[in-house]
Amino acid sequence: MALSLFTKTKKAIIERAQDDYATKMRLKYKPYYHAMEAQAGTHIRLQGRDMIMLSSNDYLGLSFHPKVIEACGLGPKQWGTSTTGARISNGSRAYHVELEEKLAAFLGREACHISVAGYISCCSAVASFAQKGDLILADKNIHSCLWDGIRLSMATVERFSHNNPEDLRQVLKGVSHTQPKMLVMEGVYSMEGHICRLPELATIGEEAGCFTVVDDAHGFGILGRQGRGTVDHFKLNDKVDLLCGSMSKSLASTGGFVAGSRELIEYLRTSSKQTIFSAAISPSMASAASASLDLMQSEPQHLERLWRNTRRYREMLKGLGLDTWGSETPAVPIVLGSKELVYRFWQALLDKGVFTVMSIAPAVPPGKDLIRTAVSALHSDADLEKIAAAMAYAVKQM
Ligand SMILES: Cc1ncc(COP(=O)(O)O)c(C=O)c1O
Repeated sequence: MALSLFTKTKKAIIERAQDDYATKMRLKYKPYYHAMEAQAGTHIRLQGRDMIMLSSNDYLGLSFHPKVIEACGLGPKQWGTSTTGARISNGSRAYHVELEEKLAAFLGREACHISVAGYISCCSAVASFAQKGDLILADKNIHSCLWDGIRLSMATVERFSHNNPEDLRQVLKGVSHTQPKMLVMEGVYSMEGHICRLPELATIGEEAGCFTVVDDAHGFGILGRQGRGTVDHFKLNDKVDLLCGSMSKSLASTGGFVAGSRELIEYLRTSSKQTIFSAAISPSMASAASASLDLMQSEPQHLERLWRNTRRYREMLKGLGLDTWGSETPAVPIVLGSKELVYRFWQALLDKGVFTVMSIAPAVPPGKDLIRTAVSALHSDADLEKIAAAMAYAVKQM
């Protein structure tokens, strides 16, 4: 018995995980995975201290809306807590179809397919349609779920400079006309807060025969009529083939969606490995998203308040001379340029009772290390004043 102790073969993968530098740093400095002890709207309790949440994606603040909370509780009373199965087999329910039809109608599309996560929906919007031999043109700064979709598709990928139509044009030069092509972009870039230059990019894509996919996880709820998103904001529904996004932001739930023509969505239902082999969204999450979607249309005050807060917050940061990377939306980065500065700034905000999130390279381009902040319709004037004081303090600590 004792001998086997000495002859035990080392497992290289376990050793690699044990030696991982990023994990060691995370455990040493504890910058992530903060488990909040309580939350009420934009107020959280962390390590016994009350703080303001300044980096949630609850843009419209609906996650504490009484109607959303009520709807969330009603779903399981009718359907149980879980579907325990995939849509294609035993997991389809009438509430899925209702939410899909409601979302499709709202987005001005024929059909929609929902899943348990925005990550899965957006990944499948790419992976199910592109294949080996195709060419994917991708904005350099797209979200990880889209890169995963690209990898899974086995298509060739060419990146173009972030939000840069001229570069897309350059990249397309010399590309075969007959090769099937896909153009992949975000409606609102989650880290940068930039709005996609969709009119130019989609037109170039169309001229080159690209199938166009837009992930509007951060544009849905904030741009366009009643929050229909970036494509609606530019009135370009006819230039975008597939619109995908998340229900975990403005819709105050979890889950994702892909919307498009009936033909494309039916194809997706047959082809998306990510949803064919994964359980369907639970009743409570679908009910919450559905109630939020109703509120987006019946209570415009949340969207108005969100933009009022966003303008005020951006002015405040500008007044302090902070670099917000030209953000045009409620997702507002504070670019500091090195992980040391980011850590100090983040800690100073935390000391003053404001919770934010650090984003450092490689999650952002080198030199763009930043604090990710996001405004919510739920931030009160008093919250914004406290945030302003904390920001001024953090600037002084630099
Ligand atoms: C652009 C973008 N797409 C997709 C997702 C994934 O959404 P979810 O959190 O619902 O999985 C996110 C979330 O961070 C995102 O920012």
